[in-house]
Amino acid sequence: MRIYLVDDYEKMSKKAATIVASQMRIKPDSVLGLATGSTPEGMYKELVKMHKKEDLDFSEIKTFNLDEYYGLPKDNRESYYFYMMNNLFNHINIKKGNINIPNGMEEDIKAECIRYEEEIEKAGGIDLQVLGIGRNGHIGFNEPNLKFEALTHLVKLDEDTITANSRFFDSLDEVPTKAISMGIKTIMHSRKILLLANGKEKALAIKKALEGPIKPEVPASILQLHIDVTVIIDKEASKELNLEDHPKLKWS
Ligand code: PGA
Repeated sequence: MRIYLVDDYEKMSKKAATIVASQMRIKPDSVLGLATGSTPEGMYKELVKMHKKEDLDFSEIKTFNLDEYYGLPKDNRESYYFYMMNNLFNHINIKKGNINIPNGMEEDIKAECIRYEEEIEKAGGIDLQVLGIGRNGHIGFNEPNLKFEALTHLVKLDEDTITANSRFFDSLDEVPTKAISMGIKTIMHSRKILLLANGKEKALAIKKALEGPIKPEVPASILQLHIDVTVIIDKEASKELNLEDHPKLKWS
């Protein structure tokens, strides 16, 4: 695990975008796993800039998003489909057919989850998966105490996640209580993982994920077993870490 410690959100976003862009330049038909939420917004802005100013080419790129709310139509402003179009896809030259986001409106959820896994397999697997982390240590919508061996599935959101995400909705009641999410197993099958975290409210989750025992109570702790993880955190998110315990930690 490589850990980069950066001053602030802007530096985290720039460094993350550089890593994603390098992957794309090395393999122009890369399969990218993408995340939503506040954390990667700055990274997407940088990638859009690179596309416009440096011709970063998305024409052969395929994407798979980690998750989508259950029961929110695509045109709902809080759906992750809407988020992705708004933050990235509308501003780059990706082919619409290469974009994959779980369909939260599908009636047969089981079939949708199986279809999603099959699409990832058909694409040859995910080359680079971008992750944020929840205050409760979740990755994707894999909430604490779910099975590590799960593939894409329907999850019931934690109270903490619902409260955290209510900032995007008019009221707590409007936050969906379920979502379709890649499972931990799906995430662990990615060839490379890029985990981003900023802000002091993520510091404890980062400590438990990187230093704590590997256990389903802290879903992100499983990343300690992945062979190719890069973590970029800002100073605030690193506050709880024992920095001397991380020989591969670099200031950047
Ligand atoms: P955030 O969410 O980026 O909005 O903080 C991250 C997550 O919950 O995985």
